Amino acid sequence: MVQKSKFVLSYFEETLITEIMNIKYLGHACFQIYIGGKYLVFDPFIRNNPLAIEAGINIDDLKADYILVSHAHSDHIEDLVYLAQKTNATVVSSYEVVAWLGKQGYANGHPLNVSGKWAFDFGTIKMTPATHSSSFADGSYAGIAAGFLIYAEGKTLYFSGDTGLTSDMKIIGDLNKIDCAILPIGDNFTMGIEDACHAADFVKCNNIVASHFDTFGYIKIDHEKAISHFKQNGKELHILKIGGSIEL
Ligand code: NI
Ligand code: MN
Repeated sequence: MVQKSKFVLSYFEETLITEIMNIKYLGHACFQIYIGGKYLVFDPFIRNNPLAIEAGINIDDLKADYILVSHAHSDHIEDLVYLAQKTNATVVSSYEVVAWLGKQGYANGHPLNVSGKWAFDFGTIKMTPATHSSSFADGSYAGIAAGFLIYAEGKTLYFSGDTGLTSDMKIIGDLNKIDCAILPIGDNFTMGIEDACHAADFVKCNNIVASHFDTFGYIKIDHEKAISHFKQNGKELHILKIGGSIEL
């Protein structure tokens, strides 16, 4: 009988308890993450996104146990009520967005505010500050714009939401060991390529997934230029095809 060394045994045990995190891009700022046996959908905007439709994304095929909403602009919540009602997912967002959902007759929400965190069945979600605005399509108040830290299966993911570059990100980097950051790079309404690269420095993460680009004229970007800018700064920028995914 072969005796396993302590190292081999602990490595084996670790691989048993560490599950892969799958990050799938659904266009614009919409992602589906599979972790801890659950599906998390961020900022659902599919049926009115021509690029998502063209890529064959069908909202009716989408699994969601949780829907995380960074803010209430229509390019982030347009499919929220539809997807929530279809999946009965728990919606995690600002108090104001969750209260608004309640008025639409959807009660399965979990309100958070900045710095607040909650342990769910797959892991913990913490709300982070974003420098952006937030209002519903009719102009009514929707709380403040935010991002999320996701802690699950020993991994930490940062989804910044729509945001400009802000020194608050340095705190996020100082207090967390982020494995992957999903950052907007489309400019005009959010950070562009250069500021997103600074944001990656601030949060101390070299593994970046691009968000909020190409969907409409204001935010069209040069992919090669973006990737090489990050590369020159020692970082990897993943510009996923819609429907494409990476694993952590
Ligand atoms: Ni926005
Ligand atoms: Mn947006």
